[in-house]
Amino acid sequence: MTVDPNRLDALLHEERRFPPPESFREQANFNDPAVYERAAQDPDAYWAEQARHISWFRPFDKVLEWDPPHAQWFVGGKLNAAYNAVDRHRQGARKNKAAIVWEGEPGDSRVLTYDMLGREVDKAAHALRQLGVQKGDRVTIYLPMIPELPIAMLACAKIGAIHSVVFGGFSAAALRDRILDADAKLLITADAGWRRGSLIPLKSNADQAVDGTSVEKVIVVRRVGEASGASMVPGRDVWWHDWLAQAPTTPCPAEEMDAEDVLFLLYTSGTTGKPKGIVHTTGGYLVGVNTSMRSVFDIKDSDVYFCTADIGWVTGHTYIVYGPLSAGATVVMYEGAPDFPDRDRYWQIVEKYGVTILYTAPTSIRTFMKWGPEYLQRHNLDSLRLLGSVGEPINPEAWMWFHEHVGHGRCPIVDTWWQTETGAAMIAPLPGLTVTKPGSATKPVPGIVADVVDEQGNPVEPGQGGYLVIKRPWPSMLRTVWGDDERFRRTYFGKFEGVYLPGDGARIDEDGYFWILGRIDDVINVSGHRIGTMEVESALVDHPAVAEAAVIGRSHEVKGQAITAFVTVKEGVQTGPELVQELKQHVVDMIGAMARPEEIIFAAELPKTRSAKIMRRLLRDIAEGRVLGDTTTLADPSVVDMLKRQYKDSE
Ligand code: PRX
Repeated sequence: MTVDPNRLDALLHEERRFPPPESFREQANFNDPAVYERAAQDPDAYWAEQARHISWFRPFDKVLEWDPPHAQWFVGGKLNAAYNAVDRHRQGARKNKAAIVWEGEPGDSRVLTYDMLGREVDKAAHALRQLGVQKGDRVTIYLPMIPELPIAMLACAKIGAIHSVVFGGFSAAALRDRILDADAKLLITADAGWRRGSLIPLKSNADQAVDGTSVEKVIVVRRVGEASGASMVPGRDVWWHDWLAQAPTTPCPAEEMDAEDVLFLLYTSGTTGKPKGIVHTTGGYLVGVNTSMRSVFDIKDSDVYFCTADIGWVTGHTYIVYGPLSAGATVVMYEGAPDFPDRDRYWQIVEKYGVTILYTAPTSIRTFMKWGPEYLQRHNLDSLRLLGSVGEPINPEAWMWFHEHVGHGRCPIVDTWWQTETGAAMIAPLPGLTVTKPGSATKPVPGIVADVVDEQGNPVEPGQGGYLVIKRPWPSMLRTVWGDDERFRRTYFGKFEGVYLPGDGARIDEDGYFWILGRIDDVINVSGHRIGTMEVESALVDHPAVAEAAVIGRSHEVKGQAITAFVTVKEGVQTGPELVQELKQHVVDMIGAMARPEEIIFAAELPKTRSAKIMRRLLRDIAEGRVLGDTTTLADPSVVDMLKRQYKDSE
């Protein structure tokens, strides 16, 4: 395992402590420390108790059936996720409460109460049924951050169709791969999206992506209008507003789903070039996400909750859609960039809507640090009471800045470690109970059993680095990889039997606090976006000029990690700045802008072991300018000197 030695060293010396303010503790949903002990002694009873916050059409017979690596949670229970997220709130005091407060990038806004949201979801659910979409069918959704995105997801959930949301920043080729893998029947997209005042051509990407796939119909939301230049294919494409206009306005009955019926697929990167369709099911996922809204986010009816993630990633699925809505919260949803039209956009939103809970990423915090506190000082942030961080390890400096400049020293911070696969926060403080340390995600939440182990699976000594593992199943865990159960087994349960391997390194300190050290596999975390080195390598070698490519993540001040690609070209190919641009663009076309390499280094040869394995660690050392370690296993040690020279020249 390779862990950044600087980070390990800094963490070992972190001595600041932040106990929950007394006023926060008093009002917190979870303020009895005995909850940890209770959950540890009888986890099934703990989860059964949490499951009471979900509405079931039929109660479950058994909490957990564990046949490693397959878990079934809330066996025999029947429920519906859209009913839980919307309809049950329409019947009581929350009927006219704001569910989604949406802010468009150009400054337009929209508020949907729970009742209004329910009516929209019902119309879309009817319209899906009219198109012949049935329980279990896959619907791919490729939309910007507009209200139609959660409406489309919830409409699928209402009729038992499986949604597969593809982040709007993915390219046509990446969208196509995901449509093909899911074998989707329908695609829901928009004419275009806004980003920093420019257009993202979603419809034109969609046109390229669906050709020759199983997609029969394309539903198109008009977000931008004429300027989008989008054209409609007769017989295949339908405008969203026309589609809904002909749907019945009567309530749409919710499909009774088994607790273990699939709710959604969400693709994520792993070790190979092919993204994995992570499968989440209905009952366990909802119980998991709803529990963490109450425990980690201390959600109350009076809160205005703002999560800055995109719904195209798991953070948005869980902490913009299913988590807060199942808890009946008011969610602020923002379409655009933090610096449009100016760098105070988030703070303007916090002030405008009186945001009480703000959940964002370390990358954004580091960017705000760089911009300076004047943008925050323009606005009144007194409404804030709790702050959250997710997506990558937060460095103590960024944590302190968040604490001082955003939270004004009075808001607890919840640094939440989790993944697409885990569905909900796993290692995180409970803000009314946990004494926080800047840079540590603190301890596993109640009901989660985590540890750090060595190569043999034995717990390591306090302070030692090792593999982070989860030793007991949990309700919102992934159930499998779509269409590839063998890959699920191998990837997550292949190293230690019956124990889940997330792919992160960690250490536990003397107080039992977890410090996440980053990925230990071939995954790069760029600004909190998970990108597989193999995906980028495959995109590069797809270009006719490229013979071989090796991609690594090097540490980056703002993004956490940046992509560096080492490339060898085919005989006779001219290298130079033009080819660099062309290759970067090729990666953008194959995957999306978030995978654009920061730098491309042309090399005569890549460093390989005698068994022809590319030595990535060595490449990382070169890119980070570290003194090189042992290179005796190299087939040709002179390659390293050459690479070092070439890397320097390219800087
Ligand atoms: O490496 C960990 C990092 O992000 C990975 C999961 O990425 P993804 O599935 O895209 O989900 C991101 C949002 C949940 C993890 O394996 N990661 C996420 N949160 C943290 C983190 N690393 C350290 N601290 C965190 N709070």
